[in-house]
Amino acid sequence: SQDRFRESYRPQYHFTPPEKWMNDPNGLLFHNGTYHLFYQYYPEDIVWGPMHWGHATSKDLIQWEHKPIALYPDELGLIFSGSAVMDIDNTSGLGTKENPPMVAIFTYHLMAGEQAGRKDFQTQGIAYSLDEGDTWTKYDGNPVIGNDGIKDFRDPKVMWHEASGKWIMSLVAGDHAKFYSSSDLKDWKLESEFGRENGAHGGVWECPDLFPLQVEGSDEQQWVLLISINPGAPNGGSGTQYFVGDFDGKKFTTTQKETKWLDYGTDNYAGVTWNGLPDDERTFIGWMSNWTYARDTPTEVWRSAMTLPRKLTLHQNDKGYYLKNFPVNQIENYTQEPSLQTNGKANVLTGEDFNQNRINFEIDEKLQDFKVTFSNEAGEKLQLGYNAEKANFFVDRTASGKVDFQADFGKEVHFAPSIATSETENTFSIFIDASSVEFFVNGGAVVMTEQIFPTQPYTSISFEGDVTYKDITSSKIERIWD
Ligand code: FRU
Repeated sequence: SQDRFRESYRPQYHFTPPEKWMNDPNGLLFHNGTYHLFYQYYPEDIVWGPMHWGHATSKDLIQWEHKPIALYPDELGLIFSGSAVMDIDNTSGLGTKENPPMVAIFTYHLMAGEQAGRKDFQTQGIAYSLDEGDTWTKYDGNPVIGNDGIKDFRDPKVMWHEASGKWIMSLVAGDHAKFYSSSDLKDWKLESEFGRENGAHGGVWECPDLFPLQVEGSDEQQWVLLISINPGAPNGGSGTQYFVGDFDGKKFTTTQKETKWLDYGTDNYAGVTWNGLPDDERTFIGWMSNWTYARDTPTEVWRSAMTLPRKLTLHQNDKGYYLKNFPVNQIENYTQEPSLQTNGKANVLTGEDFNQNRINFEIDEKLQDFKVTFSNEAGEKLQLGYNAEKANFFVDRTASGKVDFQADFGKEVHFAPSIATSETENTFSIFIDASSVEFFVNGGAVVMTEQIFPTQPYTSISFEGDVTYKDITSSKIERIWD
């Protein structure tokens, strides 16, 4: 109906479950012209509970069709995060050559084992579908990887590794990643481990993803390893770090010394990339929340959204490699011609509700202090910009709307260091969608994704600071569920 999906705070151009609790994206797979998005789902409540895999499909990553639940818990456990592949050559024997299986690889979490104080309660299982992901059968030889006593042992991300002609699985085990190989998705051999001495360790490692990326403007290929950690993110709680290095089919190695973060905002977690796309269309989506307050956000029918799907690209400057992540081009098809525009030193945009908009602007000269303030008639304010003295971008949601549902949510201003690329940081995009803001600097070289809960739409945006603004535009992004 017209009113469905129009509850307060319901994002309009981001993926949300129709109702109830969602966390991580799972089983991201592009096949036969269809993007599959599975996700951690608890169909009984708006807080985390016994995990299932929800399912949705899309032709363009923006407009989603909700599908029946794909995977239900069974006697081996709840269905935690994982991935999906198309087993085109039927290496698993779970389908036929004519009708090859779609295979999901996931973690079984045995609650009873955990409650009994055992450490071996997480194992890895597989399931297959012979009808494009509509119905699923669990493999009767599960688990395919048992557990000899590792407490946190989860989130398998599987890919086909062309050079070695094998399936490669990345898995996390508390403070490090493990890489396995297989020729049939059923028998897995541990090849190597990575990370006890690398990167951030403020919390447990979760949701690994390993993939090759070409360095933009060169023929050089590197391997990227994404690792979510919780807690320990730069602005508190859950966040996603990454490593750039090499993978030889068995071992991941890197010379990277510093910790790199995909997104400095508080709300982009457990993100991974689609299987089944060409390497130069590496596409990412994250869960737009943070375990610090995920259970407390003020929605009632459903809880939480995914980030916009984003294309990942790899770049190099005098400080080393860095990832950019920026919304996929398909969002342009839903973005209307600018409804407002302005220019100059100090500016205000008014005359419409800024609740499902994209705001673009540039600055003329070098990066100096600037501040963009969204405000509404309830006196709520969302501010973001750049602090030259600290060389930091910031998002200030401390008075952005409802913030008192949890102690940390509105406590601090959040920062992202300028990455000081050879290019000046002078183009900015802000996507607002009911209860989220995504702030992109220079096409995603610096990104901050945050949830916000304004009790009314923002009706004014003011642009202030020591910079001259160029080409400020605001465009509506149209609703998609009518
Ligand atoms: C990440 C995570 C995963 C786990 C899932 C459980 O948010 O903790 O490590 O598989 O959520 O829902």
